[in-house]
Amino acid sequence: MTNSLLQKYNVPGPRYTSYPTVPYWNEDNFTYEAWLDTLKKSFIESNTSEGISLYIHLPFCESMCTFCGCNKRITKNHDLENPYIQAVLKEWDLYCDILEKRPIIKEIHLGGGTPTFFSTQNLETLILGIFKKADKASQHEFSFEGHPNNTTKEHLQKLYDLGFRRVSFGVQDYSEKVQNAIHRIQPFLNVAKVTLWAREIGYTSIGHDIIFGLPFQEKEDVIDTIEKTKSLQPDRLAFYSYAHVPWIKGNGQRGFNDEDIPKDDKKRELYEIGKQLLYENEYHEIGMDHFALQTDSLFESFRDRKLHRNFMGYSSSKTQVMIGLGVSSISDSWYSFAQNVKTIEEYYAILATNKIPILRGHLLTNEDLIIRNHILNLMCQFETSWTDAKEYFNEIPDIVIQLKEMERDGLIEFISNGVRVTEVGKPFVRNICMAFDVLLKRKAPDTALFSMTI
Ligand SMILES: C[S@@+](CC[C@H](N)C(=O)[O-])C[C@H]1O[C@@H](n2cnc3c(N)ncnc32)[C@H](O)[C@@H]1O
Ligand code: SF4
Repeated sequence: MTNSLLQKYNVPGPRYTSYPTVPYWNEDNFTYEAWLDTLKKSFIESNTSEGISLYIHLPFCESMCTFCGCNKRITKNHDLENPYIQAVLKEWDLYCDILEKRPIIKEIHLGGGTPTFFSTQNLETLILGIFKKADKASQHEFSFEGHPNNTTKEHLQKLYDLGFRRVSFGVQDYSEKVQNAIHRIQPFLNVAKVTLWAREIGYTSIGHDIIFGLPFQEKEDVIDTIEKTKSLQPDRLAFYSYAHVPWIKGNGQRGFNDEDIPKDDKKRELYEIGKQLLYENEYHEIGMDHFALQTDSLFESFRDRKLHRNFMGYSSSKTQVMIGLGVSSISDSWYSFAQNVKTIEEYYAILATNKIPILRGHLLTNEDLIIRNHILNLMCQFETSWTDAKEYFNEIPDIVIQLKEMERDGLIEFISNGVRVTEVGKPFVRNICMAFDVLLKRKAPDTALFSMTI
């Protein structure tokens, strides 16, 4: 990646966990009833053939990391666990009553916040409660995010017994200076311990999350972090660009100054050295920010062109229905998106009226569905193609000019009726998606909404 490419393409841009992206949802057309209608339709179409996915947001963390962009509630009060689990199960019951038939669950992902804030007993109550009204798909994939500082052997064993085979651990960076700045003191030994336990118990995919571009992070820190990571041989690695999103309320990101965050060529160097080391250690880039060993199921899906991306991140196959339970979770019926309210107090209050606590949503138009497909193709296969280019391109102002410019810059190459992202273009895949994003083109955001693309 040259510096000039970085300067040209490092602009604020969406991460495309959905298209349209949340700030572009049209709330005027959205109603609670319309959301449920699309969900019922999609469920009938896909429950038997594909099954459904469940994302469950578990928002509590004991300590605040000052880099974090997730929706979380910092507390040490573990009495909050059980009421929250009961509320999530109530939300699930409301959905099951609406769906009428027993859902077949293909995927569950426990995200947060910190799922391992919860006791093994409460996590068991949650999962058994879910399966009172649902069945497991024969080929299910259950995963969770574990904090290396509080994941116990009992957590790993209990979730394994309940069908979980994938776990990802938040590592970020091993440097003490960086860890102090981001208020996350987490020695290598903690990560090694949980990784080895998970492997011993039989987890088939263990992931580590690493971030480049953190405050005070130097080239040597990235090298050291990847060297240590390599010694534990996780099956997957997320190598995230630090998203500086100080406008997210209550995230405490002002624990360091702006000048302490590596920028431009310094950040580029961190990325390049990291990516080089990952390649040298047999990690293959399978999608935006994600690397996997050839033996991991995500790599196999990438190779077989089955990889899918949704609000949970990458998954090895597509499900048309994803129900998000818990505070701030987003659900996807393929024809429509719906997001839950963001505070625990509102979540409880609306559930008490026997309604699913939806805050807002979006019904996808035909145009949205076409563009969503292209963006998914680019994110999951690094290429996309179309049957009638003329008709489609007329709809999107400047797309040809923009794509030609990206071709000149070496980011993409044209293939028959489509484009393919080159090796040089992979770090810029968000920018390439932005060329297709007609909503962003029609109306640029007035305020800061997105993190920088690199
Ligand atoms: C919910 S956390 C993982 C589980 C657990 N809470 C923990 O921290 O270990 C999910 C992951 O999101 C990533 N993340 C959070 N905030 C981020 C940011 N501002 N920029 C980039 N990645 C971020 C981190 O890598 C983190 O491990
Ligand atoms: S990084 Fe994880 S533990 Fe830290 S505040 Fe965010 S969600 Fe909580």
